Amino acid sequence: MHLNLNSAHILVTGGAGFMGSAFIRYVLKEEGFVGHISNLDLLTYAGNLENLDSVQKDERYSFFHGDIRDQKLLESIQEKRAITVIVHFAAETHVDRSITGPDAFVQTNIVGTYELLEFVRKHPEIHFHHISTDEVYGTLGKKGVFTEESPYRPNSPYSASKASSDHLVRSYGETYKLSTTTSHASNNYGPGQYPEKFIPLMIQNILNKKELPVYGAGENIREWLFVEDHARAIWTILQGGKKGEVYNIGGGNEMKNIDLLQHLFEVMEEVIGEKVDEELITYVADRPGHDFRYAMDGAKVEQLGYRPIWPLKAGLRETVRSMKKVFI
Ligand SMILES: NC(=O)c1ccc[n+]([C@@H]2O[C@H](COP(=O)([O-])OP(=O)(O)OC[C@H]3O[C@@H](n4cnc5c(N)ncnc54)[C@H](O)[C@@H]3O)[C@@H](O)[C@H]2O)c1
Repeated sequence: MHLNLNSAHILVTGGAGFMGSAFIRYVLKEEGFVGHISNLDLLTYAGNLENLDSVQKDERYSFFHGDIRDQKLLESIQEKRAITVIVHFAAETHVDRSITGPDAFVQTNIVGTYELLEFVRKHPEIHFHHISTDEVYGTLGKKGVFTEESPYRPNSPYSASKASSDHLVRSYGETYKLSTTTSHASNNYGPGQYPEKFIPLMIQNILNKKELPVYGAGENIREWLFVEDHARAIWTILQGGKKGEVYNIGGGNEMKNIDLLQHLFEVMEEVIGEKVDEELITYVADRPGHDFRYAMDGAKVEQLGYRPIWPLKAGLRETVRSMKKVFI
């Protein structure tokens, strides 16, 4: 792909969320970036403009409040900013919420992606990068890893809605010859994540000396990716990836939830200077359809020159420090 990234006009959707905001901060720090980033976000419960405090005054950044399903708004952004690249993060993202209320997931994740693709169909000069998840591949047993060739077997309404959006992206690439790429990331962690996800929820509850709810026996296995590594991986794909291709991005830190909690306890003790009361761990009934294990083969994105560089403990330390400021 020849995207002239340093002077690109990038539309980030969902840029007030956890990963979108990390991506915006990352790009604006990239040496030589003289383009512009427009952030389109509906500011749902998960959107937080404080994640972007450090860039609010940057002339290379603008915010648009609104819905990715709003074609008129997309056109007005295009008139003002002449977008050349879209990086699509906006989504409903919490699996538990998708079980109790799937509708918003269908609306934002499927219809929202469809509307963005229709917009790109009218402006085929735009490259569309779609942010997806490892969860579309379903679950693994104790062995094996997901590759870009793994079959789709989504098990929750969240992962099914993401899978549907992935298929739409692929089909628009094939049928209308749009320029698209897709990346599937493993579980992200880092500053700015809404405290309903495992790591920030545990940190918040430890700081408030509240119960630490762990699904089942804490045996589920996840691969953890620090959000800044993820931002760098996306940038690497935009720089060196191939049109129409799909890339898996893992963090290299695969472990049981209960073991992750032990690492977090050590980091918490170091940062807050007091012992975590392990009695706070409360095992709760497992989530229906809970995937046992995810793990990624990241060889394809590594061929583009990307490697995760954040060790787990260093990433956890950054995350705890950012939350300590808010809660203490
Ligand atoms: N968090 C993870 O571990 C992880 C892992 C892999 C992939 N992903 C994917 O990465 C993307 C970002 O995840 P996140 O954790 O940063 O999400 P998040 O929940 O923190 O943020 C989502 C953002 O999208 C915005 N949004 C929601 N609906 C919108 C709409 N209709 N129009 C405009 N904006 C809207 C919200 O206001 C919010 O700012 C998602 O597509 C998710 O599926 C997440």
